[in-house]
Amino acid sequence: MTTYREFLEAKRPVAPILGTPIEPGAIHPILKDFQRAIVRWAVQGGRRAIFAKFGLGKGMMQQEVVQLQQPVKMKWCVDCHRSNKASITCNICHELGQ
Ligand code: HEC
Ligand code: HEC
Repeated sequence: MTTYREFLEAKRPVAPILGTPIEPGAIHPILKDFQRAIVRWAVQGGRRAIFAKFGLGKGMMQQEVVQLQQPVKMKWCVDCHRSNKASITCNICHELGQ
């Protein structure tokens, strides 16, 4: 027999998990911990939207969500590094032989 509480719990809507699992290490190191948590939640859940206040880095989080779902293109990395004055030295992203 179900209790009244169980009956109510069964009616509580819970968003299904429909996304792709990702390793925490796959998320770009420039993101802050809370941004990484949000990105992970969005990618793994699928069908998620990020409603974050000004200044919390929605743009960066969204770019990262999109990025994690398509094969990586070097141009995408390098373009952003250029516009953020981050390093575009080959060996920050590639293991170079000795
Ligand atoms: C949204 C913009 C953006 C994109 C896209 C981006 N990066 Fe970065 N990345 C940065 C910035 C800005 C830094 C510098 C962070 C710092 O100095 O704290 C950085 C730093 C790094 C670092 C550390 C560099 C160091 O000197 O230690 C690595 C490695 C890196 N990015 C790799 C990548 C790779 C690989 C990609 C593509 C898969 C990529 N990044 C895409 C903005 C971006
Ligand atoms: C910010 C990160 C980043 C930097 C800096 C970077 N690369 Fe890349 N590179 C990548 C990523 C990610 C890939 C894999 C995606 C792709 O093939 O487009 C890649 C792929 C490549 C490939 C294989 C492309 C292919 O078509 O198979 C070559 C060659 C390469 N990089 C050379 C370089 C050289 C040379 C430099 C320095 C002038 C450099 N990269 C700097 C991120 C970077």
